[in-house]
Amino acid sequence: MKIPSKKLSNGFSLPVYGLGTWLMGGSFSAEKNDDKRNVNSIKTAIELGVTHIDTAEIYGKGHTEELVGLSIKSFQRSSLTITTKVWSDNLKYNDIIAACQRSLNRLQTSYIDLYLIHHPSNTIPLEESMLAMDYLKKKALIKDIGVSNFTVDLFKKAQLLSSNKICVNQIHYNIANREHQDMVSYAQQNDILITAYRPLEKGFLLDKDISELQVLSKKYNKTPAQIALNWLICKKNIVLIAKTVNIKHLQENIGALIWKLEEKDIEMLDRLNLTSIT
Ligand SMILES: NC(=O)c1ccc[n+]([C@@H]2O[C@H](COP(=O)([O-])OP(=O)(O)OC[C@H]3O[C@@H](n4cnc5c(N)ncnc54)[C@H](OP(=O)(O)O)[C@@H]3O)[C@@H](O)[C@H]2O)c1
Repeated sequence: MKIPSKKLSNGFSLPVYGLGTWLMGGSFSAEKNDDKRNVNSIKTAIELGVTHIDTAEIYGKGHTEELVGLSIKSFQRSSLTITTKVWSDNLKYNDIIAACQRSLNRLQTSYIDLYLIHHPSNTIPLEESMLAMDYLKKKALIKDIGVSNFTVDLFKKAQLLSSNKICVNQIHYNIANREHQDMVSYAQQNDILITAYRPLEKGFLLDKDISELQVLSKKYNKTPAQIALNWLICKKNIVLIAKTVNIKHLQENIGALIWKLEEKDIEMLDRLNLTSIT
């Protein structure tokens, strides 16, 4: 299946659905992991049409990137978009460059499509971090620059400090969590993509019987997960990343992509207050 993309005016684009990898390869360390299952699920996702894989140096203490590297080896590299992230401890100029090189080695690739500052640092000046990001782009080690968990003010500051466009802010956003609505609105007005993480609130959205999701589920003959994912991708400038190692869930999620909720139903979901779930 060809997953649709969203594009910025400079040509940068991301597929509306990408695969998250948090908890594949371990959590904050690599212990207790079913490598074979995780590699298989990443490969299956690619075979089913997923081209955007999201990972981070901190996931599984680097092991997740290794699993992504193993998984993508047998596919054409240029058909894939690999996002990875540098952790906030590594945001000094030389540390970012070294972290990027380690990520490249683990991913077994010569470039990263989208490199994100995972989380802002309270102690390391953003100036030196953005200089390092610009250096990595100049050296073609990364194709595009993004950030994650940045407020609007911090995003604006980062953009002023970089000579390249910051294409993406990856933030926590879903029908139950609109904490960063101001960043979403800013992105929609300023030609920036939002990658929504935790689109299913780690699965908790589906554990609760949310009556509005049930009603729409019947109306569209789609599952509650598909309604929640479709709501996100109906939004201007928003793409999402969802994690699953379960083939049935993956197929279900991909079934959320090539149709659209009616405007009145999007607005009904907009009005929901589900903050108790998050
Ligand atoms: N930038 C950041 O700071 C940040 C923070 C958090 C996450 N992220 C990224 O965003 C990705 C997605 O977020 P997330 O993993 O936290 O949460 P998520 O994608 O909202 O939820 C993942 C959970 O939902 C389950 N799931 C997926 N599809 C399902 C379906 N159709 N029906 C029922 N359960 C389903 C998965 O279980 P199964 O595997 O069993 O399907 C998993 O337990 C992460 O993996 C990571 O790459 C980034």
